[in-house]
Amino acid sequence: MSAAPAPDVQAAFEAAKGFMPPHEGLALYAAAVEAGGLGLPLLEIGTYCGRSTLLLAEAARLSGVSVFTVDHHRGSEEQQPGWDYHDPETVDAELGVMDTLPLFRRTLRRAELEEYVVALVGRSPQIAAVWNAPVGLVFIDGGHTDEHAGADYEGWAPHVAEGGFLVIHDVFPDPADEFTGQAPYRVYLRALESGAFTEVSATDSLRVLRRTGPAPATPVRSH
Ligand SMILES: C[S@@+](CC[C@H](N)C(=O)[O-])C[C@H]1O[C@@H](n2cnc3c(N)ncnc32)[C@H](O)[C@@H]1O
Repeated sequence: MSAAPAPDVQAAFEAAKGFMPPHEGLALYAAAVEAGGLGLPLLEIGTYCGRSTLLLAEAARLSGVSVFTVDHHRGSEEQQPGWDYHDPETVDAELGVMDTLPLFRRTLRRAELEEYVVALVGRSPQIAAVWNAPVGLVFIDGGHTDEHAGADYEGWAPHVAEGGFLVIHDVFPDPADEFTGQAPYRVYLRALESGAFTEVSATDSLRVLRRTGPAPATPVRSH
């Protein structure tokens, strides 16, 4: 898989606030372009300010599909005031809590990619509980605790279509390398052990898996 976004999209991506390094972004983009060929939507968990969303949006634009991006926009644990990944510009001055939704909307608007993206504002498990459509790609980059990353895997991986992709960010097999915990690594192992996915590429902490086997089981839901 190799592809690069148009220079204006690449520039917008690099200028956007967020946590996706350019070389990992290229791997995500390449998977998204290929996934777009399935004619199914692309789905992201962890919008933040829209940095990775831009790449998915450009891939969606090329294929005529949509991106759905999930975030409550209140930030993960490590992004809260006093923590290492906190950015004071993400705080709503009136309410004194994080709100990345306005920054995300600005990012997409500036890049002229708004029309390819649907923002789902809320908690990932709550949205996954009512989602019932196949997707070409699921990108897991939400909360990094076992509770959150595990729920993202259980809630969304069953919706990846045959031939589609499960992409996981911040996979650190060596505990010495990790900075926000190893939950994404454990999710990556679960995906491989399920027999549903086969690894396609590893670009630093970004893992791209393709669905090659029967879908992992959808968890029993209690509404
Ligand atoms: C690491 S950031 C995403 C970074 C983004 N993909 C980028 O490229 O810059 C994680 C995001 O996940 C969101 N998040 C964490 N737990 C969540 C949950 N359970 N449901 C919805 N969003 C969640 C946070 O609000 C935060 O914006």
